[in-house]
Amino acid sequence: MADGIDIVPAGPAHAQVLSALHARAFADPALSGPAWDAASFLSLLSTPCVEGFILTVEGVPRALSLWRHVLDEGELLTIGTDPAVRSRGLGRTLLRHGLTHLAARGVVRCFLEVAVTNTAAAGLYASCGFQNAGRRRGYYQHGGVSIDATVMGIDLKLGQIG
Ligand SMILES: CC(C)(COP(=O)(O)OP(=O)(O)OC[C@H]1O[C@@H](n2cnc3c(N)ncnc32)[C@H](O)[C@@H]1OP(=O)(O)O)[C@@H](O)C(=O)NCCC(=O)NCCS
Repeated sequence: MADGIDIVPAGPAHAQVLSALHARAFADPALSGPAWDAASFLSLLSTPCVEGFILTVEGVPRALSLWRHVLDEGELLTIGTDPAVRSRGLGRTLLRHGLTHLAARGVVRCFLEVAVTNTAAAGLYASCGFQNAGRRRGYYQHGGVSIDATVMGIDLKLGQIG
C-alpha cells in the first residue's frame, strides 16, 4: 500500500492497541458514543463473526474498523481515525478495504448507524456509496441527551463501493 500505509487484521491480542486508538478517535462521546475498553474489544474479537482491522502509517496504528457479518449481511460496528491524521483519506481507505473484504466473503449488503450530528462520519460513508436507509429515534444517549441515528446501507453486489 502507498505512503507507508498498511492494513492488518486485528485479533484478540490487539485489544489494548484498539482501545487506546478508539479512546483517541472517540474523544467526543456526544458525536459517536463512548470509547470502548480493551475488555469490549477482546470480547468482540473473540466472536467468530466479528473482524477488525488496524491501519498503520509507518508502523504506527492510526485508524481502526470493526465489522460483523452473518451470512450475506454485514454491519460496520465502529470506525475511527486518530485526530492527528484526519482528513488525509485514511478513514476512506480503511472503509473501502473493509467493504471489499466483506464482499469477498459473500456479504451483499452492509449497514451502519451514524448519529445525525456526526457530519464527518456521514460524509465519509456517503463518499463510499452508503445511502440513507432509515432513522432510529434516540439511538445514542449521552449526558441525558438523546440523539437519533441515521441508518445507512450499501449494496455490495451491485458494486456500489465508491
Ligand atoms: C469519521 C472519521 C472516521 C473520518 O476519518 P478521516 O480519516 O478523517 O476521513 P477521510 O480523510 O478518509 O475522509 C473521507 C471523506 O469523509 C468525509 N469527511 C471526513 N471528514 C469530514 C468532516 N470533518 N466534515 C465533513 N466530511 C468529512 C469527506 O467526504 C471526505 O472526503 P474528501 O476529503 O474527499 O472531502 C473521523 O472523523 C473520526 O474518527 N471521527 C470520530 C469517530 C467517529 O465518529 N466514527 C464514526 C462513528 S459512526
